[in-house]
Amino acid sequence: MTTDIPFNEAPEGASSAEGSSSAEGSYVLQAKAVSRDYQQGDSLLPVLRDTNVAVKAGEKLAVVGVSGSGKTTLLNLLGGLDDPTAGTVTVCGADWQGLGVSARAKWRNQHVGFVYQFHHLLGEFSALENVALPCLIGGASVAEAQQRAEELLGKVGLGDRLKHKPSELSGGERQRVAIARALVTSPSVVLMDEPTGNLDPGTAGVILDLLLTLNKTLNISFVVVTHDPAIAARMDRQVNLIDGQLVELEAAVV
Ligand SMILES: Nc1ncnc2c1ncn2[C@@H]1O[C@H](COP(=O)(O)OP(=O)(O)OP(=O)(O)O)[C@@H](O)[C@H]1O
Ligand SMILES: [Mg+2]
Repeated sequence: MTTDIPFNEAPEGASSAEGSSSAEGSYVLQAKAVSRDYQQGDSLLPVLRDTNVAVKAGEKLAVVGVSGSGKTTLLNLLGGLDDPTAGTVTVCGADWQGLGVSARAKWRNQHVGFVYQFHHLLGEFSALENVALPCLIGGASVAEAQQRAEELLGKVGLGDRLKHKPSELSGGERQRVAIARALVTSPSVVLMDEPTGNLDPGTAGVILDLLLTLNKTLNISFVVVTHDPAIAARMDRQVNLIDGQLVELEAAVV
């Protein structure tokens, strides 16, 4: 497994974090006054309450919080997979709420990589096909998509599992396929829901190195939900989700 530069093109929309100010234009991701209530029978379950978060180009943010605090709910809103009850979420200059279904899917394909907590790989497709798919949807040729997918799968240590279907892979291998799939298009921002939860410390370290390399070389921003203190400590900032609000933790020691 190596962590050298995977691709030679910076993604569209990922400007340099260097010299970025607090100007709104420097953010790849902004959630403003976001709330999310779930309807439970006759009552409402408030999960997120009027909370804010902003991530600059090239910034790495760890989100921590106890089980049930709303971390997955938050990532779904940031990735435009769900809509807030109140507030707005902007990614690379576009509000999710202002985009129709197909424009949203296109914007997500161009700008966002997503590692779901439960992977969501397509069972009928091989590891290679699962990872190549976002590139194909984005308009890459089959040869280019396959080459990128193979390269990424090699980097997560699965170069010898390209033709395996998800059911033929271990839990940690499936998790790594999902990580490769999120990274394959070199998106502006990658949202990860406990990406190393099924991995041993050595393999988790390889994945962390890969994320840090992509962050440095391609200026990709990361929002990582994690219970792993080693991962959280390597992000630029940590926020804790408590009582529906994001609370900044002390600056991470890197
Ligand atoms: N579709 C839904 N309908 C009703 N309640 C929901 C729904 N999805 C999540 N919840 C509730 O919202 C709360 C937050 O859920 P969420 O999945 O965001 O938590 P989490 O912080 O990701 O937890 P974990 O660390 O266990 O993954 C939980 O109490 C959950 O039961
Ligand atoms: Mg969750």
